[in-house]
Amino acid sequence: MMKIVSKVSEMLAIQKDLLRPVGLVPTMGALHIGHESLINQSLKDNNSTVVSIFVNPSQFNAAADLEKYPKPLNADLALLEKAGVDIAFLPDNEEMYPKGFETWIEAEKTSVILEGQSRPGHFKGVATIVTKLFNIVKPDKAYFGQKDAQQLNIIKRLNEDLNLFVSIIDMPTIRDENGLAVSSRNAFLTDAERDAAHILFQSLSQAKEMIMEGKYDAGIIRNRITKMLGGSDLISVDYVSISKLRSLEELTIIEKPVLISLAVIINNTRLIDNIIVE
Ligand code: PAF
Repeated sequence: MMKIVSKVSEMLAIQKDLLRPVGLVPTMGALHIGHESLINQSLKDNNSTVVSIFVNPSQFNAAADLEKYPKPLNADLALLEKAGVDIAFLPDNEEMYPKGFETWIEAEKTSVILEGQSRPGHFKGVATIVTKLFNIVKPDKAYFGQKDAQQLNIIKRLNEDLNLFVSIIDMPTIRDENGLAVSSRNAFLTDAERDAAHILFQSLSQAKEMIMEGKYDAGIIRNRITKMLGGSDLISVDYVSISKLRSLEELTIIEKPVLISLAVIINNTRLIDNIIVE
């Protein structure tokens, strides 16, 4: 039987008796097959699995975005129960940000570029909530998707910098049959917009191919992706980045391993995707 826990104090108490190793899958709910792959990996690797669902207000830039974020709690809980998760941790805002809260975690450099530049404060919210979840659940391992590559980098960074000693497990992006990365935000797309969005992965794949063929001028590859994305009237490009995989330092000449990442906006819906070339 899955246990539903909503208080930090209760989670702290229960955590002590969990069979180790303990895996944590932090989520904001609206669970999809991407989350399921993280959960299944945790169930395989660990003797206990905790999944947190908390729509973290401090990582949203716009109140409207937070407001419209899907919150299908019953469906989420049914999915977790069926998967065989041990604990669903569902704290509310007062539990996570009690009155007087004022201490934040921030990765100085990595959090202000790319996604961080377009979404000021976003990674401060992510880094803080993930640190809190690590402190409350005390997992041996924690699972995150490669789709949020910058988030993953920041979490690895804070885990090391703050000596949290959690094994961070990154899992490959799950895609639909046409390559579109699965995301809770895809639910906002019309059929036509979803079709248009397939160019994201196509352009990333094309870029990877160019590098594999020995094209090392990052500017040319960046332009190629931007041009492909620009082919659709529905897509407006926020950024196309070709960077070092770990530091996210922008490259002029390709140096592997390289992260090619992009963000676009399709009718108010922000979509991100990336590909790694080892
Ligand atoms: O990736 C997410 O869903 C969120 O950013 C996370 C890691 C659960 C923190 O709120």
